Amino acid sequence: MSGIRDLPVAAAQALWRPETTYLNTASFGLPPEPAWDALQSALADWRGGRTSWEGWTPATEAARAQFAAMTAADARDVVIGANVSGLVGLLGAAVPDGTRVLAAENEFTSLIFPFLAQEARGVEVAFVPLDKLAEAVDASTGVVAVSAVQSSSGTLAALEDIAQAARHHGALTVVDATHGIGWLPFDATRFDAVACAAYKWLMSPRGTAFMYLDPELADRVVPHSAGWFAAEDILGTNFGGPLRLAGSARRFDTSPAWFSWVGTAPALELINRIGVDAIHEHDLRLANRFREGLGLPPGDSAIVTADVPGAAEAFERAGILASVRLGRLRASFHVYNTDADVDAALDALA
Ligand SMILES: Cc1ncc(COP(=O)(O)O)c(C=O)c1O
Repeated sequence: MSGIRDLPVAAAQALWRPETTYLNTASFGLPPEPAWDALQSALADWRGGRTSWEGWTPATEAARAQFAAMTAADARDVVIGANVSGLVGLLGAAVPDGTRVLAAENEFTSLIFPFLAQEARGVEVAFVPLDKLAEAVDASTGVVAVSAVQSSSGTLAALEDIAQAARHHGALTVVDATHGIGWLPFDATRFDAVACAAYKWLMSPRGTAFMYLDPELADRVVPHSAGWFAAEDILGTNFGGPLRLAGSARRFDTSPAWFSWVGTAPALELINRIGVDAIHEHDLRLANRFREGLGLPPGDSAIVTADVPGAAEAFERAGILASVRLGRLRASFHVYNTDADVDAALDALA
C-alpha cells in the first residue's frame, strides 16, 4: 500500500515546475513531468492525426491498477469515471426507497446531492457535526456518507469509529477520499464504497475519478451508464444486444476521456514510486511548519484552515496561491511544496 519508494521526495521534486508559491492542491494539483509529457505527446498525436485512439485506452487500465495498489484494493473492484458525483450517483440510485443517509454538516455536495436527489423515493439525508457522526449512527441509518478529509476545513473524519458503528448497525459506508488518497495512507477495503477525484491530490488532469466498490454492494448496483466501455470484451462489443457487461466492477465504467487518462496513469505511478507514506510525512511536516508559524498546535492534515484576517489579499499581493473556504484561509501542502513555500506564506502574513 505504501508504494515501492524507489524515489525520495527531494529527488522527485525536480519533476514539478510550479512558478508560484502554490498552496492550492485542495483546488487542483499540479502535474508531474511524466504526466505532462504523456499528455503533450497524446495531444500532438491527436493534432497530427498520427495515431488511432486504441493506443490511448490502456492508460485507463494502468491508472486503475495504480489506484488499486495505492488503496490496498483489487483492481477488479475499482470503477473508473469522470467525477465523484457521477460515481456516487450510482449508489444514490441503488439504495432502497426510504433509506436514511447520515452525513456531516458542510459535507461537499458531490457526495450528498446524489442522495438528496433521491428525495422523491423517500431517501432522506440527516446532517450532524462531523465529530458526532459515529455516535449518531443507529438502527435507522442505511448509509453513512462522509469525506475522509473535509474539503472546507481539512478535518479528518474518525473513519475507524464510523466504520465500526456502521458495521454494528448494518449501515453502508460511502467515503469520498478525494482529499485523502495521494497523501494519506488509505485502505479502501474497510468501506463499502470509496470515491476519489484524481485532479487534486493525485495531480491528474480534470476528468478522471475512481470508485472502489465492495463486491457485495456491487451486486446491488445497477450499471445505469453502461456503454461499450463497460462490456466484457471492449473492442468486440460495439453493436447490438444482448447486454454483455464485464464481470468485474469495470461494468460500471463510463468511456474514458482519453487525454485525461493518459495524464492520470503516470501521475499515479509516480506517487506509488515515491510512496504515499513518504508523501504523508512530507506534507504533514510542511503543514505543521505553517501551523506553528500561525501559532496553531500541530495537526494531522495536509490542509490547513485558519482565521487570518486579510490573508487572501496578503497572498494575492505576494503571488501566493491558496483559497478561502467558508470564510477561512485554506492552504494545502503537497509533494512539490518546500520549506521555502511555507516561509514565503508566513512572511506574506506577517
Ligand atoms: C470532497 C470532494 N469531493 C469531490 C470533489 C469533486 O467533485 P466532482 O468530481 O463531482 O466534480 C471535490 C471538489 O472540490 C471535493 O472537495
